[in-house]
Amino acid sequence: MRMYDLIEKKKHGVALSREEIFEMISLYTEEKIPDYQMSALTMAIYFRGMTDEETFALTEAMAKSGDTVDLSRFGDRSVDKHSTGGVGDKTTLIVAPIVAAAGGVVAKMSGRGLGHTGGTVDKLESFPGFRTSLSPEEFADQSERVGLAVIGQSADLAPADKRLYALRDVTATVDSLPLIASSIMSKKLAAGTRSIVLDVKCGSGAFMRTPEDATRLAETMVHIGIAHGKNTAAVITNMDVPLGHAIGNAMEVTEAIEVLRGGGPDDLRTVCLTLATRMIALSCKKSIEEAHKIAEDCLYGGKAYTKFCEWIESQGGDPAYARDPALFGRAAHTGEVCAEEDCYISACNAELIGTAAMILGAGRQTKDSVIDPRAGVLLLKKPGDRVNAGEVIARLFTERAATLDTAADTVRAALTFSDTAIEKQPLIYAVIDNCAVFSKEDPSQ
Ligand code: URA
Repeated sequence: MRMYDLIEKKKHGVALSREEIFEMISLYTEEKIPDYQMSALTMAIYFRGMTDEETFALTEAMAKSGDTVDLSRFGDRSVDKHSTGGVGDKTTLIVAPIVAAAGGVVAKMSGRGLGHTGGTVDKLESFPGFRTSLSPEEFADQSERVGLAVIGQSADLAPADKRLYALRDVTATVDSLPLIASSIMSKKLAAGTRSIVLDVKCGSGAFMRTPEDATRLAETMVHIGIAHGKNTAAVITNMDVPLGHAIGNAMEVTEAIEVLRGGGPDDLRTVCLTLATRMIALSCKKSIEEAHKIAEDCLYGGKAYTKFCEWIESQGGDPAYARDPALFGRAAHTGEVCAEEDCYISACNAELIGTAAMILGAGRQTKDSVIDPRAGVLLLKKPGDRVNAGEVIARLFTERAATLDTAADTVRAALTFSDTAIEKQPLIYAVIDNCAVFSKEDPSQ
């Protein structure tokens, strides 16, 4: 195989064979293909796309490029959830304990945040002592005992994707549907769960900007999952606006605890129940109606919150913080963004709100940036809300006072106002279960 020939083929829109893809990924993992040739190929893929067969082969080749996790001891009960990345997305903190309380096993690897999106591992590290790195034995033992363990992504899992993703990040080839689908699903296949539920974000804070593109990505990933023998479902959710009110690590943990205690924002609770319903349906073999009822019972009956506290303590975190989130404390410096006149908020660019939180210290500008767990944005008003002149729209929190002005300007730039009320956008665009779209009567929506 000559890499030059593969680039030439793809440049002319000719499909690569399964053998060519496997050999290329194997050579790239061994660093025998230079990055300049691989970036030429990814750019050709960006413009020419891939057939389903090529996308499936690329996913499988990357999934097999390193270690795979064996969760067979949990039979059908193991289930993973993946979000394509958003702002204020703390759903794993809520969904995982609901599913574990219902009898599923959530043995999960999660990423760190980069740029405007947050990462579950960073949020969990807000708990003093929480260990995001466990040995394979500890990971298996905790998954067995608690039904729930979340650790950082292992470098040995799908190493080909790790290299390729870093390359795509600097060559403007991240936003290619087959490359995103194969990147995400290669890690999910290697992570070894029997079922996978995908939260595909759609809107200004997400890779996919329109419901049509998000649906195409979701369908491709569901097809890949099913082709590899995994029960797979996907939920397409709105990311034009941050989810919930809190954007920033300890603030998001606090908001997640509010939901687990039966309160918290409606949008966050609805997305969590929708995802948990699919995870319970697949891992506990229930109908959607039964699974939805179980999810609600676990949430409102307090079992999920008890499971959350058990999880945090079991992974080394101080459980006192789970019982009393006020212990996280407040950042030293605060600021406000207020309405200048009586009006309605008509839009809110989620990416810019995430960027403001990052500027305040809640996220990473580079891989080596140090996160400040108490920094972030509390977005009190959202599109559709009426505000009066002088009313606070957002509160800002930081340890670095010098960042407040730029962050406030960024929040202002994210907001659009109007004199008249606007219709709110849907929170959930569609649900795809084994490629059948559920009807609107689905009780979890
Ligand atoms: N997340 C991933 O893991 N890979 C992508 O390509 C995009 C988002």
